[in-house]
Amino acid sequence: MKKIVVFAGSPRENGTTARLIDEAVKGARSAGAEVKIYDLNADGVKGCQGCFYCRSHEGCATKDYLQPMYEDIKQSDAVIFSSPIYFYDVTGQVKMWIDRLFPVIGADFKPRYPGKKVLALYSQGSPDLYQGVAKKVQDIFAGFGWTVTESLFCSGTTNAGDAALTDDLLKRTFAAGKALVA
Ligand SMILES: Cc1cc2nc3c(=O)[nH]c(=O)nc-3n(C[C@H](O)[C@H](O)[C@H](O)COP(=O)(O)O)c2cc1C
Repeated sequence: MKKIVVFAGSPRENGTTARLIDEAVKGARSAGAEVKIYDLNADGVKGCQGCFYCRSHEGCATKDYLQPMYEDIKQSDAVIFSSPIYFYDVTGQVKMWIDRLFPVIGADFKPRYPGKKVLALYSQGSPDLYQGVAKKVQDIFAGFGWTVTESLFCSGTTNAGDAALTDDLLKRTFAAGKALVA
């Protein structure tokens, strides 16, 4: 059975990013995947402490909510990444998570857990598609040996609200989640 680990990057439990995650997860499950979801806004999530433990050991010295994610990532076939756009970037919660991914590369900067497919989901207030973040995220993941197979945006949420979540986008998100399992 294919395993997928999901990282939910919005603090809004019922926001647009959460809706996109729901669809992608439904798609992945419809194809038989086992899915585990991490809420990056969970209490007690710590940022990287810069201790460099992971430079000489596998794993992270910080024992918090995120600790099991390293084993989950190692065992997974694919990752669903998500973030709203906050000031032309990912959310603070997502940035903390990215820093905590230092252990997925070794001391020699070689990926420890390469070969993951990644579906990236974004939500933004502006109707204009801002691709800068997606490019940056793609580059960071490339350093982990992960490939972003698809990036999907829900754009224009400020004025359109939920209407920005069109049926077409929801269908494409479901299909992208399903495709991760193929
Ligand atoms: C602190 C903050 C900063 C934001 N900065 C931007 C931005 O730079 N560009 C943009 O298009 N939307 C921006 N937004 C709007 C969010 O991206 C938008 O509301 C998004 O749909 C929220 O997703 P969610 O419903 O999943 O939380 C910002 C929202 C907040 C709270």
